[in-house]
Amino acid sequence: MTSKYSTRYGDSEYVSTPEKNGCYLSKTTFCIICVVFIALLVGVALIFYFGPEETPSDCDVAVCVAPFPAVPGEPVEEEEPSFTGRLPESLKPYHYNLVVRVFLDEEDGDAQFTFDGNVTISITCVETTNVITLHAFDIEVDPLETLITDMQGTEIGISSQTIDELHEFYIIELKTSLKAGEEYSAYLTFEGILGRELHGLYRSSYNDPETKWLVASQFQATGARKMFPCFDEPNMKATFDMVIVHRDTRNALWNMPLVKTVPTYDNWLESHFETSVIMPTYLLAVVVSDFPYLEIVREDGLV
Ligand SMILES: *[C@@H]1O[C@H](CO)[C@@H](O)[C@H](O)[C@H]1NC(C)=O
Repeated sequence: MTSKYSTRYGDSEYVSTPEKNGCYLSKTTFCIICVVFIALLVGVALIFYFGPEETPSDCDVAVCVAPFPAVPGEPVEEEEPSFTGRLPESLKPYHYNLVVRVFLDEEDGDAQFTFDGNVTISITCVETTNVITLHAFDIEVDPLETLITDMQGTEIGISSQTIDELHEFYIIELKTSLKAGEEYSAYLTFEGILGRELHGLYRSSYNDPETKWLVASQFQATGARKMFPCFDEPNMKATFDMVIVHRDTRNALWNMPLVKTVPTYDNWLESHFETSVIMPTYLLAVVVSDFPYLEIVREDGLV
């Protein structure tokens, strides 16, 4: 469409050149040329304004919002601001209890190079709503495990859980509304792949001389949602309690100092860390490696 249009635009310019060069044109011809030229300009402007936007190729049809029907000559509503993936302002997280387990070894079988875990998010409801919208991307959330409760522990029924891939949202619709001023708890489980892309939670290796694997993270700017469902926006700060589950041949690092390691099953350990200061999700950092003591967590939380 664009190329067709620019050809036509070029033609119309060409048509109007004779007058610039002072060639004689009858009044009628001149008027016709003017009208045609203006009509083309208007047409072009209309096409530019109301023409359908290019649909992203990876757009999941099921979650795509139908484009606003273009009615020529009528004002078209602005694109929804939520297109940028901004979360509603109705809910604010204030604390996360996060558990993540990493599988790096051949003994892990099919689970090698994956991670799983769970998160309990404590939420303040600012505005009454029956929808909890979280960020999640490239991870699997088990809908059967999701549990929403009020602070008395009473379960709040869930009517649907949907993935909006375009906006990187995990949307939980509730049977009853959360009330403004009340606090709630959202428990979700997640699992994902430890890829080699340096984003989210990923795996890396070095030779010593045989290949050794480690886990690291890069959550800036939107990588946290690739590890766990969360309110992944810089202004949605919270405190974090973290437990990293790993083989006892490795050490885990987190933004905060280690409090204790607890043996779980076989040769696995749970590393528990101090509760963090209030911080945004993108500053969280995880490392699981063979290095005995690697205290290079910077003040801003980056490792
Ligand atoms: C989260 O996972 C850990 C480790 O598997 C488990 O011990 C804990 O019970 C889970 N949390 C909940 C609330 O089920």
